Amino acid sequence: MTSEGRGDSPAGHDEHPTFDTGVAHVARVYNYWLGGKDNYAADRAAGDAAIAANPDIVTSVRANRAFLARTVRYLAAEAGIRQFLDIGTGIPSANNTHEVAQAIAPDSRVVYVDNDPVVLAHARALLTSTSEGATSYIDADLRDTEAILAQAADSLDFSKPVAVMLIAVLHMIGDDQDPAGIITKLMAAVPPGSYLALSHVASDINPEKQAEAARRYNERAYDKQNHRDLGQVTALFAGLEIVEPGVVVVQQWRPDSDAEASTPSAMWGAVGRKH
Ligand SMILES: C[S@@+](CC[C@H](N)C(=O)[O-])C[C@H]1O[C@@H](n2cnc3c(N)ncnc32)[C@H](O)[C@@H]1O
Repeated sequence: MTSEGRGDSPAGHDEHPTFDTGVAHVARVYNYWLGGKDNYAADRAAGDAAIAANPDIVTSVRANRAFLARTVRYLAAEAGIRQFLDIGTGIPSANNTHEVAQAIAPDSRVVYVDNDPVVLAHARALLTSTSEGATSYIDADLRDTEAILAQAADSLDFSKPVAVMLIAVLHMIGDDQDPAGIITKLMAAVPPGSYLALSHVASDINPEKQAEAARRYNERAYDKQNHRDLGQVTALFAGLEIVEPGVVVVQQWRPDSDAEASTPSAMWGAVGRKH
């Protein structure tokens, strides 16, 4: 729906987060790392514990957010994409997907998906749109691809190219939950000429600091992080043509300036095209 989120829980998952402010949740911790105000003491405690192990987290999340904006700009301006399925949306921040896309192509249609009730509570802020385009929000779990695709079809035309955005969300999916299979199902639903934009927390950049930050986060948070290395992230693009410059640290994906390119991150990012 275009004016408010859906309240139904994803079928088959007990893991749908509840609104418990006493336990850290990734959307709120990420908001804290970005300098936002939509977080609670438990989120800040988990966020600070991770920062103490790896201070680069703060530049990493900023570089990731800039990557998100540049990929949307590339997809709208250079690849001609007009439909976006942004899963793992996060609490609204600067340069949300619909803002970047509709500034380039006002007829862009954006469907946001997240499973966190706090993001749902902020969904109205995501649901502004140009009159030519549309935005909508689905309260669903990334693992429930059927529910996402069924509801997204209310707003997106799956006979035309779609950009599937999985920005800094797949590290919340363990190997036992088949992240590659999730991508395969999503990309099977979209036609040739569609894209996957993905960023992922790296296990192989500053590996000791990264592992300790994840350990501290996982000790305190509702949802657990699973960092992956360059080979594992590259494998998630199987069957897609990875556009230049390939799978790189997010700050080096088509940066706008030297300053942007040199902001350190421990995140791999890339964009792939379906043939
Ligand atoms: C680190 S934030 C990234 C936000 C945004 N994509 C960005 O890169 O700026 C991860 C988001 O994914 C959401 N998320 C985590 N696991 C999810 C799942 N299984 N299904 C749907 N959303 C999920 C969290 O609630 C959070 O809002």
